[in-house]
Amino acid sequence: MNDVSKYLVAVIGAGPAGIFAAKELAKNGAEVLLFNRDIKPGGLAEYGIYPDKLKMKEGLRKQFSSILETPEIHYFGNMLVGEQGDIRLNDMRELGVQAILVTTGAQGTKWQGLPGESLKGVYHAKDLVYHYNQLPPYSMKKFDIGRRVAVIGVGNVMADISRYLICERQVDVVYAVARRGPAEVKFTKKELEYIVENLDMENYRAEIERAAPIMAGVGQDAQEPMRMVEQALENAEQTGSNTSFRMRFLASVRCILGNDSNQVCGLELENNTLMTDGNSIWAKGLGSRFRLDVDTVIFAIGDAVDPGFGLPVDQNEFSKNPNPRFPIENISYEGYDPATQQGIPDIFLAGWARKTSSGLVGLARKDGIGAATAMVQYLSMIKTNKQIDMAAIHTEIMLRQPKAVNQAGLAILQAEENRIAIERGIPGFKFSTNAEMAAVIESSRIPDYK
Ligand SMILES: Cc1cc2nc3c(=O)[nH]c(=O)nc-3n(C[C@H](O)[C@H](O)[C@H](O)COP(=O)(O)OP(=O)(O)OC[C@H]3O[C@@H](n4cnc5c(N)ncnc54)[C@H](O)[C@@H]3O)c2cc1C
Ligand SMILES: NC(=O)c1ccc[n+]([C@@H]2O[C@H](COP(=O)([O-])OP(=O)(O)OC[C@H]3O[C@@H](n4cnc5c(N)ncnc54)[C@H](OP(=O)(O)O)[C@@H]3O)[C@@H](O)[C@H]2O)c1
Repeated sequence: MNDVSKYLVAVIGAGPAGIFAAKELAKNGAEVLLFNRDIKPGGLAEYGIYPDKLKMKEGLRKQFSSILETPEIHYFGNMLVGEQGDIRLNDMRELGVQAILVTTGAQGTKWQGLPGESLKGVYHAKDLVYHYNQLPPYSMKKFDIGRRVAVIGVGNVMADISRYLICERQVDVVYAVARRGPAEVKFTKKELEYIVENLDMENYRAEIERAAPIMAGVGQDAQEPMRMVEQALENAEQTGSNTSFRMRFLASVRCILGNDSNQVCGLELENNTLMTDGNSIWAKGLGSRFRLDVDTVIFAIGDAVDPGFGLPVDQNEFSKNPNPRFPIENISYEGYDPATQQGIPDIFLAGWARKTSSGLVGLARKDGIGAATAMVQYLSMIKTNKQIDMAAIHTEIMLRQPKAVNQAGLAILQAEENRIAIERGIPGFKFSTNAEMAAVIESSRIPDYK
């Protein structure tokens, strides 16, 4: 264990990356201020993972809750960090924070600049995912989903969104649109099992047949994706829905079409072929276009970081120092300002804030620990804080956001949600507004800072 007990650090974002990083930092002796936009911790583990995955979600909640009991971790939920937020990075520095780890995930939208992107009926997967997982304020937002929906992208997020559209919304048809071919899908067989019952097999076979010569051109076997579907069918979950689920390969959206009421009425797509240099495979437009009649479009192509957070952004991600002082397994966890071409010495990045929309909870955990390791190396090189007055720091923070929620508040909230679930005889209950959560916590608020 490194002796950094005299250091004060901040972790921004209590998703998996931030929570596991906080644990690592506290294990090494640092006092950790853990700021989180949402009242509850967990990030996408709480508000992203599909609601039906109760066992996984409950297991993660327990792990997070146990980590947050660590005396050196001081949780401040309901606290937005950023230039327009409750507290800025410079405010933290003024509080005596010596290093800041940003684990805010990917909260921005990956806009593509397509005509029609602002039409009614165009959504981005994250917002809908937050909605059906009851994250305020998305929980209260209305999502007007029509009967014919195109989901752009073929990763696991597409699979989750399609599952929601098939099982909960029971729409007529879902088209999953892929710019590349059947061999480049990124969803897993396991996730396909939840929706494969609704796959229109006649349409899928026709798509494979259509793609086969293009696949052969880049050395691919068109039977492989067919086998994946057949294997998924062996373990298909029953959806209880008549939705027709179709995949459309080798097509890129060029324009979202709208009617007189500014509502989506279709997609204009360009046919693609596949190209390869022997290492990677990419899509190339063929010039010919076709139309898909849909009334709703959902982009599931990954997300971007929040550009208003207060750190330089480069291509949807926070800028990272290309020459890190403390690389861990060749990864740079360090902030960077491209304008000055200098590192930002006290800023570190981890999880989806470092590399957007990549990997599972386990990877975010590893990334958080990697960043914490780099931070500990940095801390051991700088001057120590003589004395850390946690009560005074707590008072300062609460002056900025009196409704910040601490561990004691979380425990009260959890107990009330559990009580309601038992009373109603349901597997779990979640409040879906901040006002309701705040009211429960306020009713028995413990004034002490921990
Ligand atoms: C739809 C979906 C389903 C998924 N399903 C699975 C699954 O089944 N299994 C699996 O292993 N992985 C799954 N994942 C992946 C997993 O959720 C991520 O790998 C992981 O959550 C990323 O962790 P993170 O901490 O980097 O970011 P996040 O989980 O996004 O956490 C970011 C945290 O930062 C906070 N924050 C954001 N901005 C601010 C700010 N300005 N100030 C303060 N706090 C802020 C947020 O409130 C949030 O708590 C899924 C992802 C998605 C999108
Ligand atoms: N149940 C689960 O375990 C679960 C659920 C959800 C998410 N996750 C994880 O969360 C991470 C993110 O998932 P994700 O689905 O968002 O990302 P992903 O796996 O990277 O898939 C993104 C999809 O969008 C496409 N895409 C990207 N940019 C595009 C563009 N500009 N135009 C058209 N298509 C574009 C990609 O196509 P190309 O391949 O051609 O780039 C790909 O098909 C992944 O690691 C995933 O496994 C896991």
